[in-house]
Amino acid sequence: MKMPMNSRTIITGTGHYVPPRVVTNQDLEKLMDTSDEWIRERSGIVERHHIDGRVGTSDLAVEAARRAIADAKIEPSSIDFVVAATLSPDHYFPGIGVLVQAKLGLGTIGALDVRNQCSGFIYALSAADQYIRAGTYKRILLVAAEVQSTNLDFSDQGRDMSVLFGDGAGAVILEPNGEDDGRGILSTHLFSDGRFAAHLWMEKPCPMDNPTFQRGFFDEGRFFPRMDGRNVFVNACQRMPEAVRAGLEANGLTVDDIDALIPHQANDRISLMVAKGLKIPVEKVVRNIQRFGNTTAASIPIALDEALKDGRIKRGNLVALTAFGSGYTWASAFIRW
Ligand code: COA
Repeated sequence: MKMPMNSRTIITGTGHYVPPRVVTNQDLEKLMDTSDEWIRERSGIVERHHIDGRVGTSDLAVEAARRAIADAKIEPSSIDFVVAATLSPDHYFPGIGVLVQAKLGLGTIGALDVRNQCSGFIYALSAADQYIRAGTYKRILLVAAEVQSTNLDFSDQGRDMSVLFGDGAGAVILEPNGEDDGRGILSTHLFSDGRFAAHLWMEKPCPMDNPTFQRGFFDEGRFFPRMDGRNVFVNACQRMPEAVRAGLEANGLTVDDIDALIPHQANDRISLMVAKGLKIPVEKVVRNIQRFGNTTAASIPIALDEALKDGRIKRGNLVALTAFGSGYTWASAFIRW
C-alpha cells in the first residue's frame, strides 16, 4: 500500500552485529563432502560467522540494537515498542522480543515477535510502519537476528543447506518524520503462498505429534531445516522482482529511479538473477553474502547498515528492499532516504 507523504516513517539509526568466529568454506570441507569451489560457484559465499558457546539469538539482537541506538543518538528509555523478527528464537516460547526488551532494560513496553523467516525484516518493517503512521508509537526498535549454526546438519546429507547459513543480527530505529521533506518509507508489499510451506521448513518439533519430541524423528534428522533448493531458487528469482515491481507501480516509479536494491542475501546467484529480471545494473545491488552467508531475517538490515556506513546510500536516494523465504513469503519495501 502507498503511504501519504506527510506521515511517513523514517529510519533514524541502524546497526548490525555478527559473532566474532569466522567459518570459512575450508572449515566446512573438514566436516562434510563439499568444496570451497562448489560453495563459491553455487552461492557466492566465502565465509560466514557462527556463535561460540552459549550465545542466544537475543544476545546478537541486543548487540545490534545497541549499535542502532547509538547511531540514532537516542536514550534507550525513549523507545516505546519493540518488534523482533527471527526464525531461531532462544526458546520454543516466548519469542526473543521480550528477551531483547528485558536485556536492554526497556521497562514494560510491548514487544512483538514476527515469524516470517527470510522475509521477516520487511514484514516487521511493515508492521512497525503502520504503528508509527497511526501514531500508536513514536520510536520503535526493530531487530532481526538469527542463530542458525547450532541446528544445521553438517553431515553430507545436510550439505545443501548447512553451507549457506550464518549467524548475525541487524537493527533499525523507526520514528515519524517531523518534516515534509519526502523522506521515509514509501510503501511495503507483503505476499505469501502457504502451499509451499514444506519446500523450505523445519518440520519438527510439531505439536501435532504426541509426544512432540520423539527419538525417531531425531534419528531421521527431522529436527533440521530442509529445503527443495531448486524450487526455492526458481521461486525466489521470480517473486522478488514481482514484489519490487508492485512497489514501483504503487509509487509511480520506474526501475531507473532505484538508487540501491537490497535483496535478501539468500544466494548471490539469486541476487544477480533478481537484478537481471528487473534490468537493474548490478552496481546498484547491495551484495555481502560473500562474508556473512544467508543470515535469514538479519540479512537485509545488515546489508542496509553496511551500505549506509560505507556511503553507498545517501540522503535523497531511493532504496528498494526485497525478500523471499520460507512460507513461501516474499515482500518489498521502498524507502526515500
Ligand atoms: N557441496 C557439494 N556438493 C553439493 C552441496 C555442497 N554443499 N550441496 C549439494 N551438492 C550437490 C548435490 O547433491 C548435487 O549432486 P548430484 O548432482 O550428485 O545429485 C549437486 O551438488 C548439484 O545440486 P543442485 O541442487 O543441482 O545444485 P544447485 O545448482 O541447484 O545449487 C543450491 C544448490 C542449494 C545452492 C541452490 O539450489 C540454491 O541456492 N537454492 C536456494 C537456496 C536458498 O536460497 N535457500 C534459502 C532461501 S531464503
